[in-house]
Amino acid sequence: MSDVPLVEMKNMHKRFGGVHAVSGVSVDLYPGEVVGLLGHNGAGKTVLMKILSGAHRPDGGEILINGKHVDIDNPRAAHEQGIETIYQTLALADNLDAPANLFLGRELMTGVGTLDDDRMEAETRRVIQRLNPNFKNIKDAVRTMSGGQRQSVAIARAVYFDAKILIMDEPTAALGPHETAMVADLIKQLKKEGIGIFLVSHDLHDVFDLSDRVSVMKNGQLVGTRRTTEVTKDDVLGMIILGKLPEQGKVENLH
Ligand SMILES: Nc1ncnc2c1ncn2[C@@H]1O[C@H](COP(=O)(O)OP(=O)(O)OP(=O)(O)O)[C@@H](O)[C@H]1O
Ligand SMILES: [Mg+2]
Repeated sequence: MSDVPLVEMKNMHKRFGGVHAVSGVSVDLYPGEVVGLLGHNGAGKTVLMKILSGAHRPDGGEILINGKHVDIDNPRAAHEQGIETIYQTLALADNLDAPANLFLGRELMTGVGTLDDDRMEAETRRVIQRLNPNFKNIKDAVRTMSGGQRQSVAIARAVYFDAKILIMDEPTAALGPHETAMVADLIKQLKKEGIGIFLVSHDLHDVFDLSDRVSVMKNGQLVGTRRTTEVTKDDVLGMIILGKLPEQGKVENLH
């Protein structure tokens, strides 16, 4: 892993009227790393990620991408930094096929100004092949696809447009076990390509095995961040439910 974090969010704040939805939260993310962002319903996870994706303006704090301060005022500014978000709802056009969804609003054109369907199909096959080799029926309407295939289309779109930082908010919430396994494979593939991923969930079991580190939020605040190799699931449950950090190991206490 490189020394410079891909993302640093420092001391972020966001209020909605009297609700302090995000209160002094700092998290970071390295290339090729998955950070699980955990916490109960209403903990502030989505609001924190919406600050990173340009959907909310923070009331305080700073964001660094590759060590440089950035101002992410809107979703376009986030895209320019290689930040792509995959929401639970996926935001796909149900009646269109995978290539049309991949290039929606960013269509490839021929030299004479018509849609270059052949190239869009070839490009879609290339990126989907890389992510999910078993997925062949890309010309079907996405409405008829499985949840895992729909995830593949949404992820392919992000990857094609050069995502470096991927925010996945509850990506497996609506999926069955087979499809959840498919998304897990996609995430491992994206890691290999050096993409950093914030994997957001209120359910520890969805993210623990996929995450290199977990950051836990409660009531808008950060409880703490731990490497998943250095804590148990029970430790993390204690962080989520009680807002309590696990006891430090004996060796560490000697220093
Ligand atoms: N647009 C908004 N306007 C007002 N309050 C909001 C808005 N968005 C979120 N909140 C409030 O901010 C707090 C944090 O919400 P957030 O959606 O970030 O929770 P979460 O951790 O993502 O929960 P979940 O696991 O249910 O998705 C909640 O109290 C919520 O009601
Ligand atoms: Mg949420």
